[in-house]
Amino acid sequence: MKKRYLSWLGGILWLLGWSCVALAAPAPEQIVLTWSEEPATTQTISWKMDTGAGLVQYGEAAARPAVAGALRTITAQAAVLATNLGEVKQFSATLRQLRPGVRYAYRVGDGINWSTWRTFRTAPYQSAKLKFLVFGDSQSLNYQVWGHTLQKAFQANPDAAFMVNMGDLVDVGQDYGQWKGWLEAGQGVIDSIPVVPVVGNHETYTPNRIYSRPQLFTSQLSLPGNGPAELRGQVYSLEYGDVHVAVLDSQMGEERAFVPYSLFLQQEWLKKDLAHSRKPWNIVLTHRPFYGNRKGGDAAFLRNAFVPILQEAKVDVVFTAHEHVYARSVPLDGKGNGFPGTIHVATGRSGTKTYPDPVRQVWNENFYNSLDEPNYLTVEVGHTMLLVKAFKASGALLDMWSLHKLRPAAGSYSVF
Ligand SMILES: [Fe+2]
Repeated sequence: MKKRYLSWLGGILWLLGWSCVALAAPAPEQIVLTWSEEPATTQTISWKMDTGAGLVQYGEAAARPAVAGALRTITAQAAVLATNLGEVKQFSATLRQLRPGVRYAYRVGDGINWSTWRTFRTAPYQSAKLKFLVFGDSQSLNYQVWGHTLQKAFQANPDAAFMVNMGDLVDVGQDYGQWKGWLEAGQGVIDSIPVVPVVGNHETYTPNRIYSRPQLFTSQLSLPGNGPAELRGQVYSLEYGDVHVAVLDSQMGEERAFVPYSLFLQQEWLKKDLAHSRKPWNIVLTHRPFYGNRKGGDAAFLRNAFVPILQEAKVDVVFTAHEHVYARSVPLDGKGNGFPGTIHVATGRSGTKTYPDPVRQVWNENFYNSLDEPNYLTVEVGHTMLLVKAFKASGALLDMWSLHKLRPAAGSYSVF
């Protein structure tokens, strides 16, 4: 009897031992898609995992990727991030020579421990109808709120090709715990469609409230290297379908000690970048607005620096953030050369933080302070039309407007 009891006990201990081993097995976390190269033929994937080597296994989704013969496996680059919560192992890989406009299945891991299969779709080569999502500041006390906004937006728009976050992704940019919250709350979306992020002022804050370069932004989100070398991973542009998107870093003050000529560098870069665009639609993303809605939020230096460039390149829309309100301007700074002006859109907030003090300005066609709940935007782009809708997270429509280009090549269009 005693012997039988011991053997039973041994069995339990053996099982417990195995379950501990299973619990301790490393698992990929915080999987995020970005573009560091061309959206039609490449896809960059990054994740965290406490293991020695990182691999991506992928194949065309239609080719049933569970079949080994249809799969390709590549090795990821490993990096150790030094964070306020200790060292974190990160892997990043860029899949290349993909076919445009194709859905791929992928999983990440170390060859033994794998994530579940996810999918992404490459951009089409030719112009095609595009929809993307835009989120204002997601900085939060609780990133579940940001996650809720994001998940609701993606559920309502599963055809979105990518998502833009307008900066202040997190409240304290050098606090890894907040990034972990942001990335974990985004699973199911940011591992399915690429993130196009903008640097905000909070990305430059440390837990001690001193300024830093936005290192946890640039090290975790791998982005195109086509901006000024001094602002690599912070200023860049990309093209998808009929849209050219140029992304600025408006933290000239916070980053003055690190990049003293940031404003000048970005002026020179933006002029050249937009001059090379052959797309019918040109959009600029900036965290700080050129036309502010808060008292003391006047950003005349940004307006003076960039408006002549917007005029010259006939930029259609500037999306902004920082003020946590939704506000759409009438076309501003047209030059009477067939260009009616640029629409400036403050995109609201997708996290918990609100401000009571922004007020409607004379140039605003629509203004809504999203104190009651977070909001997001959808942007739909065809060759001759750009349609923008603003929604509360719960789905209520806040605004809808469109631009139409009758003769895109001549830059002639009208606002409806
Ligand atoms: Fe901000």
